[in-house]
Amino acid sequence: MGLLLRTERLEISPLAEADLEAFVAYRRDPDVARYQSWTPDYTQTDARSLLAAQPSTTLPVPGDWVQLALHPVGLSQGMTLIGDVAIGTDPVQPDTYELGVTLAPAHHGQDFAREALAAILEALFAAHGAHRIVMQGDARNEAVLRLLRRLGLRHEGAVLEGDWFKGEWTTLERFALLRREWQERR
Ligand SMILES: CC(C)(COP(=O)(O)OP(=O)(O)OC[C@H]1O[C@@H](n2cnc3c(N)ncnc32)[C@H](O)[C@@H]1OP(=O)(O)O)[C@@H](O)C(=O)NCCC(=O)NCCS
Repeated sequence: MGLLLRTERLEISPLAEADLEAFVAYRRDPDVARYQSWTPDYTQTDARSLLAAQPSTTLPVPGDWVQLALHPVGLSQGMTLIGDVAIGTDPVQPDTYELGVTLAPAHHGQDFAREALAAILEALFAAHGAHRIVMQGDARNEAVLRLLRRLGLRHEGAVLEGDWFKGEWTTLERFALLRREWQERR
């Protein structure tokens, strides 16, 4: 799969240098960082390291991630980053990917996350032969749980207080979609 996609309202491409200022700004927002792997003291240096480590034209090798930038269609890149979707390639299982999504707060509540994820699911299954795509969210993160249900992912279960995260035991809700499930619902 190429890593360039377009939806009705979004251009999706690998995160680039010009995106970093906006990327760091929303990663530093405590509400955005709350259920994510980073903390609000996230810096430009952290973002540059992430960018240097990611592939720019291909899906990541097993165990690695690529961060795709979301820009509104028709606006110049870099000025307009509204969020990102991360694709991780499973370290062990073939053709298995995990997705994560983040939007800048000004762009919540407008269906951008669903639109971006739907296009990326489609591309992974149709163009890259994905077998299984998984997503997970903290059980307290209602916005993401609503989003994953709206996307039609299958709830696989809860990892009850199984994740030591930011100083406490937390519960992860796990979702997935198989290639055959994606084919059946087309
Ligand atoms: C998770 C996150 C991306 C969800 O964002 P979101 O704005 O709720 O999701 P969407 O872009 O799909 O927008 C859907 C919302 O827009 C509303 N909406 C507005 N116009 C709409 C339209 N035309 N069609 C569908 N929904 C629409 C929906 O009702 C929905 O609101 P609701 O969740 O209150 O019911 C966002 O909360 C976020 O960035 N959180 C911080 C990072 C994070 O925790 N990520 C999860 C880790 S995987």
